Amino acid sequence: MFDLEIHLDEQDLARALRADVAAGLRASPKWLPPKWFYDARGSELFERITRLPEYYPTRTERQILAEHAADVARLTGAKTLVELGSGSSEKTRLLLDALTAHGTLGGFVALDVSPAALRDAADKLIVEYPGLSVRGLVADFSRHLGAVPRGGDRLVAFLGGTIGNLLPAERAEFLGDLRAVLDDGEYLLLGTDLVKDPATLVPAYDDAAGVTAAFNRNVLRVLNRELRADFVEDDFAHVALWDRENEWIEMRLRARRDLTVSVRDLDLTVDFAAGEELRTEVSAKFRREGVQRELAAAGFDLRHWWTDPQQRFAVSLSRATVLP
Ligand code: SAH
Ligand code: AVI
Repeated sequence: MFDLEIHLDEQDLARALRADVAAGLRASPKWLPPKWFYDARGSELFERITRLPEYYPTRTERQILAEHAADVARLTGAKTLVELGSGSSEKTRLLLDALTAHGTLGGFVALDVSPAALRDAADKLIVEYPGLSVRGLVADFSRHLGAVPRGGDRLVAFLGGTIGNLLPAERAEFLGDLRAVLDDGEYLLLGTDLVKDPATLVPAYDDAAGVTAAFNRNVLRVLNRELRADFVEDDFAHVALWDRENEWIEMRLRARRDLTVSVRDLDLTVDFAAGEELRTEVSAKFRREGVQRELAAAGFDLRHWWTDPQQRFAVSLSRATVLP
């Protein structure tokens, strides 16, 4: 059995959840941060999403990685691969294989807020890669980048388009924090979903089988269990819409009728008017210029930009530049 390094224990998690829920459910409009989707069930639902016909990002990114993993290994010569928001680390095996074949890889560090996802992934990886040192960090990539071990010619992978789940200001802070924990010349491999026709985007977040709807509503179950709230899942409709101005998908939960919900552990009573929406996630879509600009502002030099033939998704390789 594999041991996780806990930088975010049950108590920290509970404290952070309470603070987020107290702030988000009192706000107008109401919102919750997307990291609370990912308990064991939420992580499993996300894995089901990745296999849906409508959800193109995972298979497209996998296709790009399959084509360019050897380039990544040759260009970086990384000795340590660090993955943020690693989840199942399923596509990451392409990088692990390429870096192993290149002969440089010694260690893999996976960081995720979800202990269940991390444990599942790490248990499999230690069997599949017996010579590899595997570490799993239960941590929040917006707060605990300092927990990432230093040294070892690192390549940090942040895949899946998860950077798009941060709001623009959070993104800038995250990239700045990441640059600060990297040494000059270390690398970032970033997966970004690209702006495209809403006819493709919206179904990816509102699939016919209703898996994304279940994933979205899962956050209500987490609140019910962790904070003794009394949300009824069926009282909320799943909403996925394309925000043209911000170029992001927004997931919301819309109250089907006037409702009063109690969150017992916070001593909080929350009213929802019929039709009122709770924002649960943004998923920003990117253009090359924007990604390059945001990376440069944080101290990263974008060196390679790889996409699929339909330009649906991009994987970029950047190098940490010398900070002024
Ligand atoms: N990288 C994988 C998983 C993406 S799902 C892929 O490409 O398929 C997003 C992952 O990020 C989940 O495993 C979730 O638990 C994790 N996550 C979300 N917010 C996080 C945060 N603030 N800190 C650390 N991990 C986070
Ligand atoms: C993890 N993240 C990149 C996913 C996304 O596409 O924004 C989460 C997700 N939300 C709904 N479907 C998948």
